[in-house]
Amino acid sequence: MAEEKFTKRILCIGAGYVGGPTMAMIAAKCPQYKVTVVDINEDKINAWKSDELPIYEPGLLDVVKQARGRNLFFTTELEKNIKESEIIFVSVNTPTKTFGEGAGKSADLQYWEKCARDIRGAAESDKIIVEKSTLPVKTAIAMERILSANEKDLHFDIVSNPEFLAEGTAIRDLENPDRVLIGSKETENGLKARESIVEIFANWIPRDRLITSNLMSAELSKLVANSFLAQRISSINSISALCEKVDADVSEVAFAIGKDSRIGNRFLNASVGFGGSCFKKDILNLVYLCETFGLYEVAAYWESVVKINDYQESRFVQTINSALFNTVTNKRIALFGFAFKANTSDTRESPAFYITKKLMEEKAHVVISDPKALKNAKLDLKGYNNLIEYEEDPYKAAYKSHAIAVLTEWDLYKQLDYQRIYDKMEKPAFIFDGRNILDHQKLFDIGFNVYPLGKPHLIHFKEA
Ligand code: NAD
Ligand code: UGA
Repeated sequence: MAEEKFTKRILCIGAGYVGGPTMAMIAAKCPQYKVTVVDINEDKINAWKSDELPIYEPGLLDVVKQARGRNLFFTTELEKNIKESEIIFVSVNTPTKTFGEGAGKSADLQYWEKCARDIRGAAESDKIIVEKSTLPVKTAIAMERILSANEKDLHFDIVSNPEFLAEGTAIRDLENPDRVLIGSKETENGLKARESIVEIFANWIPRDRLITSNLMSAELSKLVANSFLAQRISSINSISALCEKVDADVSEVAFAIGKDSRIGNRFLNASVGFGGSCFKKDILNLVYLCETFGLYEVAAYWESVVKINDYQESRFVQTINSALFNTVTNKRIALFGFAFKANTSDTRESPAFYITKKLMEEKAHVVISDPKALKNAKLDLKGYNNLIEYEEDPYKAAYKSHAIAVLTEWDLYKQLDYQRIYDKMEKPAFIFDGRNILDHQKLFDIGFNVYPLGKPHLIHFKEA
């Protein structure tokens, strides 16, 4: 399509897990728009231009290929693209601050603010700026102030359009979302800007799933959605600890309570802990916000969700240690999975990282296996690399090991020949299922000592 035929020119700053897939979907669904994605990281942009995308996400390459070169472009050229676009999504990272006021809890907004200043510096016409990153409540107001302080008499409308996609299912989530949330100021200009963003998504999403609200509600809803999801996991994980004490089965409890339609059955899988770049960061952001407003009880309530998650990770390591006769030193332990969940190569805040470090502290010989995340695992554990083995093939990883710990729920691990694995392991052989995905009775019958989460342990000798 010739340049002038495009009915909207959209720019996205930040070509990460959110910016890349979201813009690819918009471009694939809306050939009438020109969509450009810009990033400061040249390697990442080159990867987006190739068939080796910088992130692993099922179905993503197909969507990218539908639009790339037609109306979807990846570049590092920021200024020119700011000038050319009417709508700018900002999808840069907003990690937890590691320094100064609010360190460890509040969001580090330096990347976001830099974008606002870059936009202000380069813009030559009015623009709609869309918050795609997850941000503290009222960031839009601060950004509006920064953008308005321009000497060119330009007008910027800020719209909040938080992203709810989950990694591993990003394409399905973007194609068929439960809802898309679009918040704006309720002024004449604000409502016009809001409608302009609604119009984009209305190209493929039914109107009744396009929810609108004021700016602060949209910003807060994103933090609250993630906090509620994480809270469900911490709730069931806390119950998994009790189940182990009273010989109840956490899967049966989850099934029974999930049948109540008021509770619902999703996000009730007990696990070694939730990971991912956002849950912890967003809860802590909410905690910080509450503390800022003097709501200390509310802050403590939400902080406990993170504390239970930390507890669950350390409980898992303690179970391994005590089952292995209170010493893992020099024992070979195969970790099945390093990604924070299945179907992604992402390892950010993965429980596997904490568990590896704890086992290393006890001088265990850790062998990490994962079908997609070994590259990221090696980067995460850079300082320790000569002490850890990385082995993609789970059979080789488990060879001569004393124990296996399943940390990611990859389907692959359900389908392995555990008799073959058992035959080559040190005896007694142990398996710790941090995701409850294996057939525990079958493993026990093979000869393993089996430690599921929140279920009775299946052991061939009296427990230590
Ligand atoms: P990411 O780290 O994968 O991507 C962010 C990108 O922004 C990086 O490639 C970085 O190089 C780039 N960047 C930073 N500053 C820049 C600048 N000044 N100019 C150009 N590029 C710049 O992060 P992500 O996972 O995509 O998350 C982005 C935001 O979306 C965060 O606020 C996150 O909380 C939120 N979010 C993430 C997910 C998810 O599944 N990862 C889901 C929903 C929301
Ligand atoms: C989560 C949310 O689901 C998305 O809606 C949100 O957009 C995103 O965070 C974000 O803001 O970044 P994501 O982190 O990609 O998505 O993955 P989830 O499927 O939510 O899983 C998060 C963690 O919880 C994983 O470690 C997963 O294994 C764990 N989990 C999930 C459980 O332990 N039990 C469950 O029942 C469900």
